[in-house]
Amino acid sequence: MANFRRFRPDDLNKFSKCNLDQYTETYELGFYMQYHAKWPSLFQVAEDQDGNIIGYIMGKLESSPEVYQYSEHYLPWHAHITAVTVAPEARRLGIGRLLTQHLEVAADANNAWFVDLFVRVTNDKAIAFYKSMGYSVFRTVKDYYGDHSTDPTLNSEDAYDMRKPCKRDVKLEHIRENGEKFEVNPEDVW
Ligand SMILES: CC(C)(COP(=O)(O)OP(=O)(O)OC[C@H]1O[C@@H](n2cnc3c(N)ncnc32)[C@H](O)[C@@H]1OP(=O)(O)O)[C@@H](O)C(=O)NCCC(=O)NCCS
Repeated sequence: MANFRRFRPDDLNKFSKCNLDQYTETYELGFYMQYHAKWPSLFQVAEDQDGNIIGYIMGKLESSPEVYQYSEHYLPWHAHITAVTVAPEARRLGIGRLLTQHLEVAADANNAWFVDLFVRVTNDKAIAFYKSMGYSVFRTVKDYYGDHSTDPTLNSEDAYDMRKPCKRDVKLEHIRENGEKFEVNPEDVW
């Protein structure tokens, strides 16, 4: 079975089982190291008995810049899932769920209001995965992947911004019903 632990820099040599997937973005090395340096508890890996990385999650804690605090799009203190991926051979074994639950516990420990993420509107499997864990669509970001995607085989596309409230949000003030219909442009997302 899988062993779960914090990411270490030498894990970057062992990401290929996960990163060949078309929905898993491969970033510059410095991007991974920034997450490792700033939010080490939100960067977790799952490894198999041979030491291969068969899943990982990268996350961060943030809020919108203070200057936007009166904007309707202002994001209060929250945890963000930047990437979660599981190698094809290891899917449907609960690894993605365990990685995500670990990040949610860290979000609560850091007094976040919610956990959020962006997902392509056609990534049905990931959307089903997030919904199974209690996430719902907060808004649709038009053409979010137009400029952000590095994979030329994927089309320009809208994103769902999905959220799950943390324990702190007892009144459920940071989620909404029918968020699919609430459309914003990428420049409204900070
Ligand atoms: C999305 C992803 C991380 C899920 O990882 P996983 O380890 O296979 O997920 P889990 O086994 O923990 O699944 C938990 C639940 O999510 C749902 N789920 C997961 N994969 C699903 C699928 N392919 N179809 C429908 N529901 C799915 C199920 O309810 C599942 O519970 P069950 O197996 O008891 O029915 C994985 O499919 C993946 O790496 N996809 C490619 C990368 C990607 O799209 N990442 C998200 C980008 S935003």
